[in-house]
Amino acid sequence: MSKITYSAPGKCIITGEHSVVYGTPALVTALDIRAYSTVELTDDNCITIFGSDLGITGVFPTSLEVSPEVDPETLSVLRPIWISCSKTLERGNKNVGLKVEINSEIPLSVGLGSSAAIAVSTVAAVGHALGISLGKEEISSIAFEAEKAVHGTPSGVDNSVATFGGVMTYERGKIQYINVRSEVPLVIGNTLKERNTGEWVAKVRYRHDRHPTVIDHIINAIADLTRKAEKAIKDGDLKSLGELMNINQGLLYSLGVSTVELDRLVYIARKAGAYGAKLTGAGGGGCIIALSTHEKQDEIASAIRKAKGEPITTKFSQQGVRFEK
Ligand code: PMV
Repeated sequence: MSKITYSAPGKCIITGEHSVVYGTPALVTALDIRAYSTVELTDDNCITIFGSDLGITGVFPTSLEVSPEVDPETLSVLRPIWISCSKTLERGNKNVGLKVEINSEIPLSVGLGSSAAIAVSTVAAVGHALGISLGKEEISSIAFEAEKAVHGTPSGVDNSVATFGGVMTYERGKIQYINVRSEVPLVIGNTLKERNTGEWVAKVRYRHDRHPTVIDHIINAIADLTRKAEKAIKDGDLKSLGELMNINQGLLYSLGVSTVELDRLVYIARKAGAYGAKLTGAGGGGCIIALSTHEKQDEIASAIRKAKGEPITTKFSQQGVRFEK
């Protein structure tokens, strides 16, 4: 039987992480690094998942009602992919098996939306292989079910950005797309330290409980700079966007979510010529993003590598989920 491949993009938060938990906007973009899901129908009535980059393989029942015979680690890594497959089979009302192979350019567990990109590309590929026509809204909402299994109460922004691509603001569950006219190059610096989003959200909550008025000022300042960052993106004003990212980094530091490794990569990227640099996502590890020109990208990437971070040269992307072959 023929193989179908779809891909979906990773994401980064440009500004507004953490404050978004308190109801203010976050600015998010799709990136041009992608996860790929290749699907083949089988007649063995099970879902076999090969996670090449996850370094793990597992065989699952087609129904979520049946307990899989896999070890707990395999289950925890592959469960969202199993859910994506099973929910799509259920939607198509088909009784077949699947072979699914996942490849990802998006590093895992560092705030770049890998799990949502994998879920979205898998749902789209399974839907196509089954011959059912899934609209983007439906792909996103099935992938959201899988995201809930990984993140508990995700905002829904990761599956939206992986499905639709582009730049968007996210505020109290509402997504608004932003028109970006110019190309926006970025260099990501991965500290290679995985982190748990819930743990860092709880740390900020603790600081907020202890010093509510002080932390509320910081949250409001992040909200203000995010609105200005949105305007800077619309205007193609990368210099202002970089300044606002630097201010956001200072405020994230004050919330207690930066680390020595993140700070080091931020300073190194700025010194190598970035317009601005900040941590992205929950903090405590994970990645920084450095806003760059095309000319400076290589210099910033090699400075990050020298400082023992892993650089990824990328840019804002308009492309959401897409058929590959
Ligand atoms: O690192 P990520 O992609 O899980 O982003 C976390 C963003 C937070 O604002 C810290 C949490 C949230 O739920 O919005």
